[in-house]
Amino acid sequence: MTYQDRLLEVLIPADALQQRIAELGAEISRDYAGEELLLVCILKGGVMFLSDLIRHITVPVAMDFMAVSSYGVGARQSSGQVRIEMDLNLSLADRHVILVEDIVDTGHTIAAVLELLQTRSPRSLKVCSLLDKAERREVVVPIHYRGFEIPNKFVFGYGLDLDEHWRNLPFIGVARG
Ligand code: IMP
Repeated sequence: MTYQDRLLEVLIPADALQQRIAELGAEISRDYAGEELLLVCILKGGVMFLSDLIRHITVPVAMDFMAVSSYGVGARQSSGQVRIEMDLNLSLADRHVILVEDIVDTGHTIAAVLELLQTRSPRSLKVCSLLDKAERREVVVPIHYRGFEIPNKFVFGYGLDLDEHWRNLPFIGVARG
């Protein structure tokens, strides 16, 4: 099996991703000048984005990871309920936190995670999402830093999977079928 079998078209080429991520890193660095920051990455989809983004951040920055899953593994539709599969190690108390996500689709995942993290008394809590499938939104969620708004198509690559494959591709592609 090759990714080309599943690829309809490249939506965001690697160089465009990298350029936008550098811009986001610069914007975050400006906004948090003089502060310390904690980036919270939602696994697994956000990991490529986090690792590139953090290299463009110039303020003191820590990172931590959590894993959540929608009920109904393998489903392409988010059910509106999430389960914490792996929790954070670090305390959020009194810290400036940015939640780093690969994609906000219906918004249910980020809404549930934000609600949970807010109970841990961060000094501030913002959202940075590489992709925003705004057309599919079912709950209103804040996206303070957004890479790209994309159409209502199933995408993969650069952290996003097709049945656990092709997260390693350096671009975002639209899946066939
Ligand atoms: P939401 O709860 O509907 O916003 O879904 C968010 C999660 O669904 C993301 O973190 C992804 O794991 C997954 N997801 C949504 N759309 C896509 C897509 O087009 N490709 C791959 N994963 C997606």
